[in-house]
Amino acid sequence: MSLIAAIDDVKSLLGPRGWLAGEDMAPHLTDFFRRTDGTAMLVARPDGVEEISELLRLCARLGLKIVPQGGNTGLCGGAIPRAEEPSIVLSMKRMNRLLSIDPVCYAVTAEAGCIMQTIHEAAAGVNRLFAPDWGARGTATVGGAISTNAGGINVLRYGNTREQVLGLEVVLPDGRVWDGLRSLRKDSSGYDLKHLFIGGEGTLGIITKAVMRLHPRPSHVQTLFGAVPDLDRLMELFVEARNILAESLSAFELIPGSTFEMALAQNATLRRPIETKQDWYVLIRASGNADITARLEELFATAFDQGLLSDAALAQSAAQEDNLWTIRDEIPAGMVLQGKMLKWDASVPIDRIIPFLRDVEATADSIQSGTATYAFGHIGDGNLHLSIFPRPGTDAAGFAAMESAIDRVIWSYRGSICAEHGVGQLNYTRILGQKPAIELEMMAKIRKLFDPQGILNPGKLVDPAPKQD
Ligand code: LAC
Ligand code: ZN
Repeated sequence: MSLIAAIDDVKSLLGPRGWLAGEDMAPHLTDFFRRTDGTAMLVARPDGVEEISELLRLCARLGLKIVPQGGNTGLCGGAIPRAEEPSIVLSMKRMNRLLSIDPVCYAVTAEAGCIMQTIHEAAAGVNRLFAPDWGARGTATVGGAISTNAGGINVLRYGNTREQVLGLEVVLPDGRVWDGLRSLRKDSSGYDLKHLFIGGEGTLGIITKAVMRLHPRPSHVQTLFGAVPDLDRLMELFVEARNILAESLSAFELIPGSTFEMALAQNATLRRPIETKQDWYVLIRASGNADITARLEELFATAFDQGLLSDAALAQSAAQEDNLWTIRDEIPAGMVLQGKMLKWDASVPIDRIIPFLRDVEATADSIQSGTATYAFGHIGDGNLHLSIFPRPGTDAAGFAAMESAIDRVIWSYRGSICAEHGVGQLNYTRILGQKPAIELEMMAKIRKLFDPQGILNPGKLVDPAPKQD
């Protein structure tokens, strides 16, 4: 069968509302940071698990490749089809329904294309909390979050997306549907297969529905914005925060002064929380069922006495709370405008995070003196988002040398270059340096077992046929 006839078959299966072609595909073919562009034969927009099952059966028969996509806010090109692998994008956007919310079971069931914010709002409506949260909450989908095991600002308190998943419904590459949509808190009946699909980036199956965990909604939430005079003592502040706030500590985020100023300059609605200028700031959020203001004040007093904070503001209203976290949300978006750079989503053991950052700065500087390094992110999870701006005029080889030198620094701390954004296509070959051969082999075998024809998300996550040395 010709490719055109095959695509016609797919179109007629999906019906006139079920696909996009030509120019209409553009929003599905480039990523948020515009670091990956692709081409697609078609964007499929199915509306139901049966349609996806039929689509996968048809694609398996015709040998067509499928790239699943949620809100397309991913940062590693995992949901962008590669031009080298002619594919159909499978957009989950129409499957965006929240199906049920159960405040007694503390569980919510949603279709994979359900927007994260829809779940946040529904959970708030029954006095519960849905934990996964980051800047793209208004566009990112629950299926995408699960497929990348996304992190965000609440990981310190509640864990990654993986920890929030109770059950999944998945369409396998041959079109069969696995109904693993259970909300059990306990099930010791052997391999817990849902975990293969979490962080699987759509290489093993298409997640169509999920049951996710909810948490008690804290009645008190308050954030301290502090100026850090000595970054090398930041972990002393973190330890104080954990000691004083205990389990109410729910976020501990680092913001560099330069990107803080950029966020304020780019968004006129933002207000400067404190006048003291420092190279580094922290956002420390506490939440719980009792008033936490006194604890946060105690933290500030202790930190000020010890020279760990030079100034701070405590949000006194929902609007001030919003202002602080909007500053945080603006930081990655603002970085998009900053020109050619190298980026890392690195994790290292929590206690090593500042020595690690110093090591990165020194390594970058030793390769090109005066190179600017920016870092922000989730100190409490040992996760920094790093950007390095090689000098204008640096060629591709210069960029590659810088990239692999910093990768090696990350690995020297037994860290990961994929902390919370996934592997996608950007880290597809780089990850080879991080994982031992035995791990890559197990991953490749799992992939081959689920998808022997290699239909799902080719060129992402792990090579199903790695070359043997
Ligand atoms: C953040 C995204 C980039 O932390 O992970 O803002
Ligand atoms: Zn992050």
